[in-house]
Amino acid sequence: MRDEWRVGVAGLGTVGAGLLNFLSERPGFAPAGPRARVTGVSARSRTRPRPADISNLPWFDDPVALAASPEVDVFVELIGGSDGPAKAAVETALKHGKPVVTANKALIAEHGAELAALAEAQGAPLLFEAAVMGGTPAVKMLREAMVGDEVVAVAGILNGTCNFILSEMEASGRAFADVLAEAQRLGYAEADPTMDVGGFDAAHKITILAALAFGCAPTYGAAEVEGVDKVELLDIRLAKDLGYRIKLVASAARSDGGVSVRVHPALAPLEHPLARAGGALNALFIEGKRIGRIYIQGPGAGAGPTAAAVAADIADVMTGAVRPVFQKPAGDLQPFTPVDAAHTVGRAYLRLLVRDQPGVIAAVSETLAEAGVSIDSFLQKPVEGADGVPIVLTTHAVAEQVLAEAVRRMAALPALIAPPRLIRIARI
Ligand SMILES: NC(=O)c1ccc[n+]([C@@H]2O[C@H](COP(=O)([O-])OP(=O)(O)OC[C@H]3O[C@@H](n4cnc5c(N)ncnc54)[C@H](OP(=O)(O)O)[C@@H]3O)[C@@H](O)[C@H]2O)c1
Repeated sequence: MRDEWRVGVAGLGTVGAGLLNFLSERPGFAPAGPRARVTGVSARSRTRPRPADISNLPWFDDPVALAASPEVDVFVELIGGSDGPAKAAVETALKHGKPVVTANKALIAEHGAELAALAEAQGAPLLFEAAVMGGTPAVKMLREAMVGDEVVAVAGILNGTCNFILSEMEASGRAFADVLAEAQRLGYAEADPTMDVGGFDAAHKITILAALAFGCAPTYGAAEVEGVDKVELLDIRLAKDLGYRIKLVASAARSDGGVSVRVHPALAPLEHPLARAGGALNALFIEGKRIGRIYIQGPGAGAGPTAAAVAADIADVMTGAVRPVFQKPAGDLQPFTPVDAAHTVGRAYLRLLVRDQPGVIAAVSETLAEAGVSIDSFLQKPVEGADGVPIVLTTHAVAEQVLAEAVRRMAALPALIAPPRLIRIARI
């Protein structure tokens, strides 16, 4: 075993600067003794002020050149983005047989299968603990700790920005746009928040977890995605009256028909751990056939937690703890077989805004009964500031196509003021 590993770090933003500070404070952090020394860095701007000192570190304008440098033993990619310089640099490092550590969920979710094949062909580890749940070790748990079991499902909160926004909407009674603007001011949300609030960031992460959990090739395009941008304060309040909290839930489940991967707002019972994971926290349930249910919760972002996860991967490289990139060797990964969402069965919350006139409730109940949807609970409650009267109900378990048909029929009711709002009740 060598005494020292020379580390090249591409990307010196939140995570990259956090990693440089970590490595300068704890160069001998790896359990078995070898030290990590940074021998090259790359970013866009050489002169930008940074929270880490790079004055004595060799600079590379091009991250691909850094990845290929003979002075670098392990390449750390912290640039971000599914393509462009991040992908080019990672491929270059792997082609040179160098271990790669990355926090880049977009890259792994969208190109994980081909990169895994390249890494394994070159005998080079490709590690990405920080890509999902930042400092909370979800990747290692699925790739290593759960190999003795068969994972049936994973479900959780994988985007801290959305969790912060939903928690703040409930706590402060402010609408989505207002809270998003505050999240941007506080640095919880990007200037362009689409990846987060549109659910796409969580979709990248659950795509990776599904591949690790079920041994299938990561297939980002197969995820069904709905973000938090259409969540209304009215539904947050009404859900709470019914004993639920709205969360952005990312889930993946295996059945005989294949695998379903979804991200969407969902109701969790108020006392459920997912409902109680507030602020910017991340949380995840893993359900194994033999082990049963495991729950982890922790920070999903931030310089300190994310850099610690990157460092844990560097430690694995330095100590030679190498496994297949996903749960099994790249050549054995199953093609992803999506489950037809129309046939999945679950419970739902349905909110209607109706004119306050006689016979409306009977018409709603009849429409649901005709479509084959049975009601679990029903609430009619005037809400200050709402146009019309909200009628809210939760259903018993029903196939999604049946529910969709009921919503279509309901939308045609003359007393309706706005289209029905359907939110699934989380299967957790
Ligand atoms: N932030 C988190 O808490 C967190 C958590 C988990 C995972 N991640 C992932 O970690 C990665 C990095 O995130 P971050 O938040 O640290 O991003 P960031 O703050 O935006 O930093 C990105 C870095 O990449 C550099 N860069 C951009 N284009 C480049 C190019 N063409 N060549 C060389 N360098 C280039 C930038 O250079 P300049 O500084 O010169 O502009 C910057 O230093 C992403 O994949 C992200 O998804 C982040």
